[in-house]
Amino acid sequence: MNYPNFPEDCKSLLCKHLTPEVFEQLKDKKTKNGVTLADIINSGVVNPDSGVGVYAGDEESYTVFAPLLDPIIEEYHGFDKSDTHKSDLDPEHLNAPNPDPEGEFIISTRIRVGRNLKCFPLGPAIAKRERLIAECMISSALKSLEGELAGEYYPLLGMSKEVQQKLIEDHFLFKEGDRFLEAAGLNRDWPEGRGIYHNNDKTFLVWVNEEDQLRIISMQQGGDIKEVFTRLTNAIKSMEQQLTFAFNTHLGYITSCPTNLGTAMRASVHIKLPNLGADMDTFKAITDKYHLQIRGIHGEHSESEGGIYDISNRRRLGITEVEAVQDMHDGVVALIEKEKELRK
Ligand code: ADP
Ligand code: ARG
Repeated sequence: MNYPNFPEDCKSLLCKHLTPEVFEQLKDKKTKNGVTLADIINSGVVNPDSGVGVYAGDEESYTVFAPLLDPIIEEYHGFDKSDTHKSDLDPEHLNAPNPDPEGEFIISTRIRVGRNLKCFPLGPAIAKRERLIAECMISSALKSLEGELAGEYYPLLGMSKEVQQKLIEDHFLFKEGDRFLEAAGLNRDWPEGRGIYHNNDKTFLVWVNEEDQLRIISMQQGGDIKEVFTRLTNAIKSMEQQLTFAFNTHLGYITSCPTNLGTAMRASVHIKLPNLGADMDTFKAITDKYHLQIRGIHGEHSESEGGIYDISNRRRLGITEVEAVQDMHDGVVALIEKEKELRK
């Protein structure tokens, strides 16, 4: 393997931190599951417009390839390699009254966490048989959920294109054919082993074997962030009684993309901010201050439509779940205040 050819205008963290020295140091390394440097960097090499550009094949990737991954993790999360991660899933520690009780701005709120099973490699390196076993373990665990979390598992295999498309358009299901995941090896054997679980109201959902083996999701209309967080934490606690997730005290919950490590949590609102949207400098000054990320309304790498944005916490590691949601809440309060001011 030779040092990859990055275009001159490449801005990915991969391109920045894969120096020729780091490349030489890592090029012949391999984890016990056989994950190599070529596997880790392929997504960012094939997609030079990546923001990050790397995916881990297993938990051990984060130690074997630390000379590349540590600086990427540090730059994304502001988390030093000597730091430890702490978890706090207690909704009572959250101070998040609805920022928009009249329902003028916030359309919906969604909080998700990524999780992976301790007993298997991560999605980029998992074998087909292991993925199918993971699906089976997860769907069985989901069967025991009760009350408002009770629902049904729908495998992607055999789902009609109409049903699939409607679930994607309504923001419930992952999209198909993502080129970043494709190059990371995460779309192998698609659609086998993939699926979605949801309750009747679609306020509690679990994605199975997409970018991570589980994405546990709580969502609803409006801006009651605490209610969404409480439902999610209840679900996480119930699922942890049945499944053992990959976790360590340094990196928190282990995910295939280093941007998701730690809490693996993304708390977001879909929010109408047409005036801020017309003044991106002011908009970005606020989102930077509160460590927030702006996405379009059809998920990552999509564009905004009609002045509606997806606003979420950007940091996930080195802060607790409560702090991640608090970042989002406080930033949304500030955004609404500014939007009202600009409207005048
Ligand atoms: P992830 O949340 O897993 O990082 P995406 O950014 O691709 O991934 O979002 C997944 C889906 O969730 C997309 O359909 C997106 O529109 C939807 N979504 C995200 N936030 C919200 C929200 N607050 N309300 C409704 N749908 C949302
Ligand atoms: N690999 C993509 C990039 O570098 C996405 C990174 C973050 N998003 C994610 N879904 N993991 O741009």
